[in-house]
Amino acid sequence: MAGVKISGYGAGLPKLAVTNDDLAQIVDTSDEWISTRTGIRERRIAVDETLTDLCVEAAKAAMAQAEVMAKDLDLIIVATVTADLPLPNASCMLQRALGAVNATCFDLSAACSGFIFAMNTAQMYIRGGAAKTALVVGGEILSKILDWTDRSTCVLFGDGAGAAVLTASETEGILGITTGSDGAKGMALNFMEREIANPFKKTSGKIDVDDMDVSRFLYMEGPEIFKFALTKVPVSISEVLKKTGYKAADIDYFVLHQANYRILSSVAKRLHVSEDKFYVNLDRCGNTSAASIPIAMAEMSRRGLLKKGMKIVIAGFGGGLTWGAALIEV
Ligand code: ACO
Repeated sequence: MAGVKISGYGAGLPKLAVTNDDLAQIVDTSDEWISTRTGIRERRIAVDETLTDLCVEAAKAAMAQAEVMAKDLDLIIVATVTADLPLPNASCMLQRALGAVNATCFDLSAACSGFIFAMNTAQMYIRGGAAKTALVVGGEILSKILDWTDRSTCVLFGDGAGAAVLTASETEGILGITTGSDGAKGMALNFMEREIANPFKKTSGKIDVDDMDVSRFLYMEGPEIFKFALTKVPVSISEVLKKTGYKAADIDYFVLHQANYRILSSVAKRLHVSEDKFYVNLDRCGNTSAASIPIAMAEMSRRGLLKKGMKIVIAGFGGGLTWGAALIEV
């Protein structure tokens, strides 16, 4: 079998919905500021759920749609920067919960581009013959790394997980993928300094990264990230279109990482495509980083928006800095 197709999607969201008005009780902000600058109205925040719980919910829904059993999975990749534990990794925790005893499991860290990077890795495993059925999950509990006194970041993010099952297939479902990174600008989005502390280290273990501000909480230079997204997203989408021989007008939906409505709207303008073709759920979910694209795809699938033969472009961008785009045929 020469192709790889995506045969199921699923999502797992925490129960608690937190509105902009709820946040205005905690920090000096307003529904008006948040919704006009970002398009976000509410987000889900984990209170009792772990990342594993959310990944299991997303994975089970995707596996049910794909009609695959846990024992059929021979690869599980979880894209995350907020695993429940550094060790064992999130994908092994998910494997244990699913009973997916035949899977090779590892995590992938590429922030908001994580799902696309993980999907790319999984499709290469399948094309190379090392796997037949892969579960790719993007999941984050960003609320645990947010500074809840910093209004410029805590209003933007949400928690959740999204999953996709990739299978070897006669037909081709992933027509092209492009990815890229720019580590030189990476400190514009960072968190969690971990000092080097061992008996051989004589001086302070503080990591010196070009005198940049390395934070224990999520730190973001918002305007820098905004500019980066506006430059890289249209370029990576154009690249994947060129690679596959399609035009923007041939695409039925664009499913971008759900960071900010103004970014989606500007990308639509730059590609000369109607905003109606850009799926939006950031108003209800906020920015869920690696989870945002598969959560959106799962919603679209549940709503019957994905029809056989449709062409969908997905595009991610974020920490690292990293970016990527893929053209999928439903
Ligand atoms: N409520 C009220 N006022 C606020 C808030 C808030 N929640 N946050 C910031 N402000 C204030 C600032 O203090 C500032 O006030 P000042 O002018 O008195 O200093 C003013 O609003 C403007 O602040 P800016 O940061 O310049 O606001 P901007 O218009 O750039 O919008 C935003 C900020 C929404 C974060 C924007 O920069 C953005 O969307 N950037 C991209 C971020 C992004 O997409 N991140 C995700 C990609 S990476 C990833 O997903 C992990």
